[in-house]
Amino acid sequence: METKKLFYKSKKDIKTAATILKDGGIVAIPTETVYGLAASAFNEDAIKAVFTAKGRPQDNPLIVHISAFRQIKQIAASFPKSAKKCAKKFWPGPLTIILPKKDSLNTTVTAGLDSVAIRMPSDKTARKIISKSCPLAAPSANLSGSPSPTSAQHVIDDLSGKIDAIVVGEDCKVGVESTVISLLGEHPTLLRPGGVTVGMLKKVLPDLVIDPAVENELKTDQKVLSPGLKYKHYSPKTQVILVEASSKDFVDFLNLKTGESVAALCFSEEKANVKIPAISYGSESDDSEKAKELFLKLREIDSLGVQTVFAHAPKKEGIGLAVYNRLIRAAAFKVIKL
Ligand code: TXA
Ligand code: MG
Repeated sequence: METKKLFYKSKKDIKTAATILKDGGIVAIPTETVYGLAASAFNEDAIKAVFTAKGRPQDNPLIVHISAFRQIKQIAASFPKSAKKCAKKFWPGPLTIILPKKDSLNTTVTAGLDSVAIRMPSDKTARKIISKSCPLAAPSANLSGSPSPTSAQHVIDDLSGKIDAIVVGEDCKVGVESTVISLLGEHPTLLRPGGVTVGMLKKVLPDLVIDPAVENELKTDQKVLSPGLKYKHYSPKTQVILVEASSKDFVDFLNLKTGESVAALCFSEEKANVKIPAISYGSESDDSEKAKELFLKLREIDSLGVQTVFAHAPKKEGIGLAVYNRLIRAAAFKVIKL
């Protein structure tokens, strides 16, 4: 199929995107986190087409994106006080809330679960498209397993010819996917860190707990709260190894490896001192910059043509925890601590 290119600033193109979605098509749209591959949340065939285009495992549920609070009752069976508090504080924005699913919502969206993930994006284009169509089920618009798309070009590289249209917008401002919390259990639980940080959430949800899978590999017998946590993710073709170290130790470690088929994903301050090929992904002191750059740089890694890339781990604080969470998955949990 030919993938139609639409432009976010054109009113006509936004209308076209909404029409394609209402008619059961699938359209990549910009959001503030990463580009999403959208389908009507109420159209089972369209949702199946999203799974097919991405090559996504059938048991990994999608997030439903809304543009107005009144849409919640079409999707969730209840909206508890804790959810209201979070929504008031963080919506529209990069927070996804897991709630009991409404019976009438088809289980293709939720991959058979009786819960549903909901988020109201802050990106104006995304909200316009939703308000002109309907709530949209949308995973990240990448091929399953590869780094999430933070620019329209990444979507074109991965999905051109497999989807009806792409709305070409600006590069994504946050750069990592939304924070995911579950409000189903006894305590609110962080399942995926993102732009809404643990510190911000704890002001509203003081008893928030962090699911162990955020920082660690799941044991095979462990209960999976979020199916997405099981899969290898965000990986370039090159092997990635995460390195937890001070800048000095990281640079010394790399400089013993000249002549090997290796490269570095480093902080910008380190680049000049590294004697092997290196790509920097942001300043040591700026975790928001690292979040914004990470997926772009993971995509660039393959162009270096080396066997292994050593990635300098950020501190697991603020949005740095989200960057760490994505990098450890890109590294398939291979970590060196110096
Ligand atoms: O920022 C984002 O969240 C982006 C943009 C497009 O909005 N979307 C995104 O979707 O990252 P995706 O499908 O790549 O990641 C959704 C995550 C997965 O890890 C999935 O397992 C989890 O949310 N999830 C969805 N529904 C769930 C549910 N009912 N229970 C537990 N986890 C759920
Ligand atoms: Mg994804």
